[in-house]
Amino acid sequence: MGVGESGAALSGKRVLLVVGGGIAAVKIPDLIRRLRERGASVSPVLTRAGAEFVTPLSLSALAEEKVYTELFDLTDEAEMGHIQLSRQADIVLVAPATANLMARMVAGMADELATTVLMATDKPVMIAPAMNVRMWEHPATQRNLKQLRADGVLVAGPNEGSMACGEFGPGRMAEPLEIVDALGRHFGSGPLAGKRAIVTSGPTHEPIDPVRYIANRSSGKQGHAIARALGDLGADVVLVSGPTALPDPPGVETVHVETAVEMRDACEAALPADIAVCAAAVADWRAEAAGQKLKKQEGQPLPQLALAENPDILAGLAGRTTGRPELVIGFAAETQNVVEYATAKRKKKGCDWIVANDVSPATGTFGGDRNAVTLISAGEPETWPPMAKTEVAERLADRIAWYFGHDGPGAPE
Ligand code: C5P
Repeated sequence: MGVGESGAALSGKRVLLVVGGGIAAVKIPDLIRRLRERGASVSPVLTRAGAEFVTPLSLSALAEEKVYTELFDLTDEAEMGHIQLSRQADIVLVAPATANLMARMVAGMADELATTVLMATDKPVMIAPAMNVRMWEHPATQRNLKQLRADGVLVAGPNEGSMACGEFGPGRMAEPLEIVDALGRHFGSGPLAGKRAIVTSGPTHEPIDPVRYIANRSSGKQGHAIARALGDLGADVVLVSGPTALPDPPGVETVHVETAVEMRDACEAALPADIAVCAAAVADWRAEAAGQKLKKQEGQPLPQLALAENPDILAGLAGRTTGRPELVIGFAAETQNVVEYATAKRKKKGCDWIVANDVSPATGTFGGDRNAVTLISAGEPETWPPMAKTEVAERLADRIAWYFGHDGPGAPE
């Protein structure tokens, strides 16, 4: 969904905006402006820390609404209690969601007006995290993120980029327009609104020692395009990506991993989901990684790699007895007998559909921008003409939307 379309979706919506205490709060006036441009009304609630970064006066001038802070607590209680405040909105948006605020949400603390509102609300909650990269990557924050997601909290961003603290990495708050888009998708009438999708993409890197790894030539282009296409149809998408040179697709939550085991864990952490599309070229084997860099030693036998089998993420998701995504889709990259091998693979993996493609070098599929695929479902195999990977992604997303619209596999041409 483009920014234009999020306008219609947001028109008349009431956003209760909890402003946390981070430097990214300076983007909040712009966020309020963008939301109002799209017809949403915004009631800001400033945390104590948030009030250190933006003033109630500036926010109320932009929002043309009363700004709630702890300071006005008593009078507000007379006018409107925190329960009512938390429920009159269509959504509660927390931006910036600092590490501290996320931790307080997980712990269920109601230690000031903003956190009390978050505890009392019966409405969907979306957070836009913003913090230093180390704080974002800290196991405590990642644990909290997982818990918040399990509690049903929606997450917009963060982005990767340079930060106010001078460091570079994930932790930058999503841009105001990206947050607006995420809200638009939530309220959107896109055919996949309300559906959650997990998409794997890219290669995995399996370490041999601290400086060497086993990899493959997957670019991630097809998986990233699918994540974006599903997001554009309104799905809530988690992209679990191995190392690629691609930017994170907008409107999609991207989790970066290196190894197959990390990819499997990230997929499991992203459950429950309605859709899983496994487009990653996961390494079949991992090496028993040496703790130190392997050294060339004259006269010594060559180092031997002891390989262990990696988890099959696709088969694992498709074979779940509880919490299996309703539609599990795999890829089959073959260099010969594509349909025959892919049909066998669909059975073996237990998935619903297989997107089969010929990756023999002459096709230029691996690393290239185009793809020629055959969709294998329970019905007849269906060969699509060669097209851009972005078009394959859009067609597959349309097909997925068709499936959910019709409660059954397949779709008319
Ligand atoms: O077995 P093969 O690698 O040919 O199967 C390809 C399909 O299985 C792709 O959808 C790929 O993403 C998925 N796969 C996986 N985990 C693995 C190996 C493959 O999810 N360890």
